[in-house]
Amino acid sequence: MAREFAEKLLDWQRQHGRHNLPWQVSDPYRVWLSEIMLQQTQVSSVLVYYARFIERFPDVRTLAQASVDEVLTLWSGLGYYSRARNLHKAAIMVCEEFGGTFPEQPAQLIRLPGVGRSTAAAISAFAFSRRHAILDGNVKRVLARVFGIAGWPGEKKIENSMWQLAESLLPASADDMPAYTQGIMDLGATLCSRGKPSCEHCPMRQGCMAYLEARTSELPTARPK
Ligand code: ADE
Repeated sequence: MAREFAEKLLDWQRQHGRHNLPWQVSDPYRVWLSEIMLQQTQVSSVLVYYARFIERFPDVRTLAQASVDEVLTLWSGLGYYSRARNLHKAAIMVCEEFGGTFPEQPAQLIRLPGVGRSTAAAISAFAFSRRHAILDGNVKRVLARVFGIAGWPGEKKIENSMWQLAESLLPASADDMPAYTQGIMDLGATLCSRGKPSCEHCPMRQGCMAYLEARTSELPTARPK
């Protein structure tokens, strides 16, 4: 199933996924900046902020040398301002502790303020083609449905088993990691939506437990009251 999952996802991503996002590059600075902006904000809102940031701060040193006030001003409107403060702190840390070069391993990336396990894996996969799984809210929904995992994904035990599953599903070839990671994000953000999933167009349909058992409205399990 793991092999099929990755292959179906890659085929779908190549045909239907997003290919023209400005942060689909191998520069870890650009990947990191986009992932922080995308943490609580959708792609359509991020695009213009991302372009402005790259214009004013084309690299991590320029960002580190700016004042936090200027960073906050440029961030103004995106919300969750702790992200902007952490962004600036992390830029300084990359310059001071990593000599201006982003580390490739999630274990190092996770030390940067604002970078959690999933964001660290996304940066590592997108910028360095490393085989590490992401697990955000969209991916949890895809996994809960395809594999019929009941239980609230915010619960540690469920979350841990999802991390294990996510790692086991990765494509064999590291070269496929950027497309695979974008694909699982895009599937969760588009077809496998929370309210009305478009199962008729989904590449996972024949193997999806939630679809086959008509349980898409029950999975993932809601937070207990
Ligand atoms: N959400 C988080 N990261 C993303 C990415 N790289 N592309 C689209 N949506 C995202």
